[in-house]
Amino acid sequence: MRLDKFLGTYDIGTRKQIKEYLKNGRCTVNGEVITKPDVHINENSDKVAFDGIVLEYSKFHYFMLYKPAGVVSATTDGNNTTVLDLLADENVKGLSPAGRLDIDTEGLLLLTDDGGLIHRLLSPKKHVNKVYEVHLREVLSESDSKKLETGVNIGNYKDDGSPDLTLPSKVSDAGIDEDGHPVVHLTIHEGRFHQVKRMMEAVGNEVLFLKRLSMGPLHLDDNLHPGEYRKLTDEELKALDIE
Ligand code: URA
Repeated sequence: MRLDKFLGTYDIGTRKQIKEYLKNGRCTVNGEVITKPDVHINENSDKVAFDGIVLEYSKFHYFMLYKPAGVVSATTDGNNTTVLDLLADENVKGLSPAGRLDIDTEGLLLLTDDGGLIHRLLSPKKHVNKVYEVHLREVLSESDSKKLETGVNIGNYKDDGSPDLTLPSKVSDAGIDEDGHPVVHLTIHEGRFHQVKRMMEAVGNEVLFLKRLSMGPLHLDDNLHPGEYRKLTDEELKALDIE
């Protein structure tokens, strides 16, 4: 791998800045100062240090994206912009979104090339919790909230023909939006197709706007705007059980 590409996988600076830092002799490979960005290194065996700090090569890449509406959670699409198009500058091969948000849904999406993590997060057995901000057509009554929390029929059936109700969830009031529509936070522990919209339909309501706020230990960064992304922090990686 080229040295500048290797350095680019760390939060050191832009490609241009990295070139400058190299020129200034801030990087060593196996103890020798290297000033040329196009020198090839073996990321698994060479010891690369920047400002004297050894950089451990990380095999996988993890990004938090604030998915905007109008973008599909797919790796390729003939018609629409994909979430991968938004990370094109990263030049990382094999990235996939951990789960899908509908084209009109906004919010937290994790993208990674760590298939094992995606599997762990999406496994139905793990019941990873997801919190959504849900803007509704109508105010949710106490009894509708109770129904949602207990489990509702969203049109899924078990082999024996009985309804496969949603797992228990949590509803909390989150006020009124600027258009005067009621807002709730809904925490669910599974990821069925259009789940939140279908849950609200099941109690005669309608989702007008949907945004994912969190997934497991990851919370949408307040500093990100729709369409922006950043690498996961060490704390977030630790919370996800990645060393
Ligand atoms: N539930 C939905 O209905 N849509 C999403 O995008 C995510 C959860």
